[in-house]
Amino acid sequence: MRDKIVVIGSLNYDIILKSSRLPECGETMPVDNAAFSAGGKGANQAVQAAKLGVPTYMVGCVGEDAQGAYLVQTAKAYGVNTDHIRTIPGVPSGMGVISALEDGSVFASIVRGANYAVTRENIDAVEPLLQQAAIVILQMEIPMEINTYAIQKAKACGCKVLLNAAPAMEIPNRYLQMCDIIVVNEVEAAFYLNTELGTVDQAREGAARMARDYSADIIVTLGKEGAVVSDQGSVTFIPAREVEAIETTGAGDSFIGGVGYALMQNMTLTEACQFAADCSAITVCRLGAQDSMPALKEVQNSI
Ligand code: RIB
Repeated sequence: MRDKIVVIGSLNYDIILKSSRLPECGETMPVDNAAFSAGGKGANQAVQAAKLGVPTYMVGCVGEDAQGAYLVQTAKAYGVNTDHIRTIPGVPSGMGVISALEDGSVFASIVRGANYAVTRENIDAVEPLLQQAAIVILQMEIPMEINTYAIQKAKACGCKVLLNAAPAMEIPNRYLQMCDIIVVNEVEAAFYLNTELGTVDQAREGAARMARDYSADIIVTLGKEGAVVSDQGSVTFIPAREVEAIETTGAGDSFIGGVGYALMQNMTLTEACQFAADCSAITVCRLGAQDSMPALKEVQNSI
């Protein structure tokens, strides 16, 4: 039975700076506080799916350092199968440095580190797992050549492929066209569409255009506004719940893990986005990425 989600992607050790603004050029600026958190888009999405109860497998690399050990241990503690995370000697673990401002905006830089040590052989090694997986979730924080190889392999193994095309970067259209679902935020959508998306109506049009261009279902997340989904050509706006957001790192990843879970329950993609919006509404009310993501009961009790 295909009851598994496989996430192929990044694990980052996040340093989250809580501050009122970004520093000016040449300025040394004290911040209100800092938090250290297990992150990386791949690991975050895997943790959310696992917390919701899906058998979830993570494929990726960490460095042979304290941060790498912490990232594996945290993912495992949240229920992710970590057997396919390799530890790479002599390379630092991936890292995220994130400024989280009071208005909820987030400015993030990532250090690739061991995430760029994922190889084709690592993907080949999990082929038996892919044969049992319903959904493979990918992002763009491992080498592009490996990501495109993984997309092809996952399709050949009969999996549904969800690509979180983030961070936005050039990827040949033919690979996007192989994906079943592509998820982007408004900034990433602007990159792929080569036009700004300033309003929900523009996001609707953008999602519809991406759906046509890539023959895929499309989700454009819009932060505290919500998300737009193009599901089999039908475009729907899913408003976000109004909550007192504390910090939004990983909110998009929580959404994607939620979509993965909901699709495994045979929800339509539009229904899955509604469920996912409930997950990320909880995630933004707490600090950090993985630590703040809800378990299934919590989501169900919040609805
Ligand atoms: O989506 C949030 C994540 O992006 C952070 O955890 C950071 O590590 C980057 O990968």
